[in-house]
Amino acid sequence: MNFLVDTANLEDIRFCNTYFPVIGVTTNPTLIAREKVADPVAHILAIREIIGPDKQLHVQLTETGFEEMLEEAGAVVAAAGKNTFLKVPVSPVGLQVTAALSEQGIGVTETAILSVGQAVLAARAGARYVAPYVSRLDNINGKGVEVVSQIAAILQGFGMGTEILAASFKTVQQIVDVGLAGGENVTVNAELMRQMASHPLTDSGIAGFSGDWKRQYGERTLLSFLRK
Ligand code: G3P
Repeated sequence: MNFLVDTANLEDIRFCNTYFPVIGVTTNPTLIAREKVADPVAHILAIREIIGPDKQLHVQLTETGFEEMLEEAGAVVAAAGKNTFLKVPVSPVGLQVTAALSEQGIGVTETAILSVGQAVLAARAGARYVAPYVSRLDNINGKGVEVVSQIAAILQGFGMGTEILAASFKTVQQIVDVGLAGGENVTVNAELMRQMASHPLTDSGIAGFSGDWKRQYGERTLLSFLRK
């Protein structure tokens, strides 16, 4: 499984990029607006600066017309460089834009996917990733993980070459279930990623190791013995 961090907060991006094995960052208009920055382009470039040129940066289009979306996509890629993916909300014009961008070799993440049908159409249009929203489905008595599982079955069954980038998680269990259902990439907010890395028994286990060592060797570490 691959992990991306779903935030536009620079501090969280710096933290997750330093400590966690993330392959990139996903943003959306809500996440960028939440940062209350005057210049969203400068902010996107600041994210790129933190993660470097080789990690993925997913930026959502804000234009809504076909020509304007294509122009916006080209400008975003020109500014943010390689490994930048355009998030295109699924819709008739979104699918048209996806086909055109994919034709130009520009990576598209079809976003706001809430059904298997939307995902399959996006894949056929050439999207590199489809982003099903797991919690948003669960919140309306849908079954986010089941939708991911069905999308995975069709994409893999027909070898469509599009990957799942599941989004909208509220629990670590959802992330694990999505992985078991065939979702190969997930984008997770920083808080959930921190929760995923920790466990109370891990903390008490580490405290036990440290206490036992110190009772025998005091403040000396293994390295201090190796250095002589
Ligand atoms: O980036 C889109 C997706 O992650 C939305 O998540 O938490 O707003 O449902 P959420």
